[in-house]
Amino acid sequence: MGKRKIDGQESMDKRTILVLFGGCSTEYDVSLQSASAVIRAINREEFHVLTMGITREGEWYLYEGEVEQIENNTWKKGPVSRACLQPDRSAHGIAIWRENGIELCYIDVVFPVLHGKNGEDGTLQGLCQLAGIPCVGPDMLGSAICMDKDLAHRLVEDAGIKVPASVVLQKGESKDQAAGKVAGLKYPVFVKPVRAGSSFGITKVNSSLYLADAIEHAFEHDREVIIEENIEGFEVGCAIMGNKELIVGRVDEIELADGFFDYTEKYTLKTSKIHMPARIPEETEERIRETGMKIYRALGLKDYSRVDMFLTPQGEIVFNEVNTIPGFTAHSRFPSMMKAKGYTFEQIVDRLIRLAMKYE
Ligand SMILES: Nc1ncnc2c1ncn2[C@@H]1O[C@H](COP(=O)(O)OP(=O)(O)O)[C@@H](O)[C@H]1O
Ligand SMILES: [Mg+2]
Repeated sequence: MGKRKIDGQESMDKRTILVLFGGCSTEYDVSLQSASAVIRAINREEFHVLTMGITREGEWYLYEGEVEQIENNTWKKGPVSRACLQPDRSAHGIAIWRENGIELCYIDVVFPVLHGKNGEDGTLQGLCQLAGIPCVGPDMLGSAICMDKDLAHRLVEDAGIKVPASVVLQKGESKDQAAGKVAGLKYPVFVKPVRAGSSFGITKVNSSLYLADAIEHAFEHDREVIIEENIEGFEVGCAIMGNKELIVGRVDEIELADGFFDYTEKYTLKTSKIHMPARIPEETEERIRETGMKIYRALGLKDYSRVDMFLTPQGEIVFNEVNTIPGFTAHSRFPSMMKAKGYTFEQIVDRLIRLAMKYE
């Protein structure tokens, strides 16, 4: 199993798991909550847990303190040491800058609990791939595709599933060019950065009067912007776990009072509500689960993901997006949907780690 250098590691026949939290992403805060819940849920009898924090600025630190400090974002106060994941395969782990030199530490599996850019988008997954270390969740390609709302739509449409009508704008395109592209779309539309998350940069636009501002806002987050027609009905989520065989959770439903599921609503549920299970007939739920699995396969995903779709008043299922590292607190949607199928939070975390270690 290789070298074990951190105190307490050598004495036990335990696997070492590295949990990554934070991230150089607008979703840094969300990650701290998800990661704290995951760290608490890992079975310590079987795993030795190391935690690595990535700051908003992208600095990496091995963090050797209590999980509470991650949760309340005071982990940087320590104990921390500069550290990084080694791309060199012979290391199979991390390098830690200690006072007396560099310490190498073997890692069996990486569990990135990072959301959004530089964590959920394939970059980190690529580094793990290069390092030859198993990593929980979709691989580099699957993660990158799902981060790109336009690419994901194209592949899913190719698999025979309906997607919203949309156009993509590039930064630097003239107003006229942009207006020409959007002319074929029916209002209301959703203006979104192609690659973002937690609703950052998204605006629902009811008339062409407000389009320019919405586009400008979305461009603050990415160099490409997707504009989609509004899909009537409501959003449903489908939690999927597995590789050869898939486990699919109960389907949930987002009930909105008005507007859309923006950042505030997602994390406060002030006016919206999540119904788990969704208030839909069994047959419809089954169709959503089947479609979710089809999307999971079409996008080449592994270990787990949450597939989000819309259900229209006519009973049509329309793809929205996939979250390859979905929110993971004890009350988050993915674990709740799996709980309804009989899996505890701890069992889900355990299964994901095993799936990643077994994946070939
Ligand atoms: N085409 C659409 N039709 C209707 N609602 C949409 C559409 N696109 C996005 N939304 C709403 O906006 C929210 C955020 O959009 P989404 O694409 O899921 O971005 P994020 O990756 O930030 O979650 C969705 O949860 C939904 O409420
Ligand atoms: Mg979403």
